[in-house]
Amino acid sequence: MARILTGIQSTGIPHLGNILGAIKPAIEMANNPNNDAFLFIADLHSLTTIFDPNIRKEHTYGVAAAWLAFGLDPEKTVFYRQSDVTEVCELTWDLCCSAPYPMLANATSFKDKLDRLSDVNGGIFIYPVLMAADIILYDANFVPVGKDQQQHLEMTRDIASTFNNRYGETFVIPEAKVDEQVMIIPGIDGQKMSKSYNNTVNIFLPDKELRKVIMKIITDATPVEQPKNPDTCNVFKLYSYVATTDKIEEMRQNYLRGGYGYGQAKEALYQTLVEKFSKERELYANYMNNKEELDKKLKIGADKARVVAQETLKRVRTKLGFK
Ligand code: ADP
Ligand code: TRP
Repeated sequence: MARILTGIQSTGIPHLGNILGAIKPAIEMANNPNNDAFLFIADLHSLTTIFDPNIRKEHTYGVAAAWLAFGLDPEKTVFYRQSDVTEVCELTWDLCCSAPYPMLANATSFKDKLDRLSDVNGGIFIYPVLMAADIILYDANFVPVGKDQQQHLEMTRDIASTFNNRYGETFVIPEAKVDEQVMIIPGIDGQKMSKSYNNTVNIFLPDKELRKVIMKIITDATPVEQPKNPDTCNVFKLYSYVATTDKIEEMRQNYLRGGYGYGQAKEALYQTLVEKFSKERELYANYMNNKEELDKKLKIGADKARVVAQETLKRVRTKLGFK
């Protein structure tokens, strides 16, 4: 049985791109009986850029509620808040001392933040070591990540190997699992949907607000009567990710025939989102109104994760000569 582990940033409420591109595929993988899955909310990592504790808390709950609403089963998957298993902080320090300074200083994500942010704190520099500890602490074999995280996985392997060479076999060397064919969901402006671009569709918004977002999708100015090109239209593109094959074909024909306005297409997209995700929207709202339930579910995961974490740390402490 392979252990799969991945961390989810708690930097916002998951949007349609996150749901289709990350949440649904990860849940499918976690539900595969051949996998032993660990999924956690990386709230310690969020300390590097989010300085408002209430926002951190709300995003952490929002992420948890979204994953649970989309079918994550906390009995099958070890689903936890990173900060609930503080053993990871001790391992981070141990690993820092096996992480060469030039490797950290040359990391693409660090250099990028150095250029962009006015406040570059030590956490941003150490970020990859905390990520390495997240992975190594749980003896993960495979780590599904986006391409942007591949370098962090290389660093994790380097750090784990350096430690193993210095102190003797201690850690499993993990492998990144990068899906080369991930679909990129467009945002309401046609660029990749991303919270950094302010172009997201949050399907968990109340009806009226969600409808408003859909009505804001940018289109060209072709008049209603004229035929339109579905393949260059953001509304059609989004529709084609959520509607059935028949419905997609019907909308395609409507575009090509003419006499069909973008307003009608937006209305159809809105209705489809509300219908398709009605169960998930309701579950999300219920969880967000019942944070104790979320805490209870996350605690089940943290208790299971801690058992593995403590076993690993015991091994590490012995190797380091502490005990
Ligand atoms: P954002 O770009 O909104 O900050 P993240 O970088 O936090 O999103 O991504 C979290 C996960 O969601 C990653 O696995 C990423 O590949 C996936 N993801 C993000 N945006 C999209 C998108 N537009 N289409 C498909 N997947 C996406
Ligand atoms: N750094 C990852 C991201 O930005 C999130 C993350 C933290 C992670 N720890 C991890 C991913 C461990 C995989 C494994 O998306």
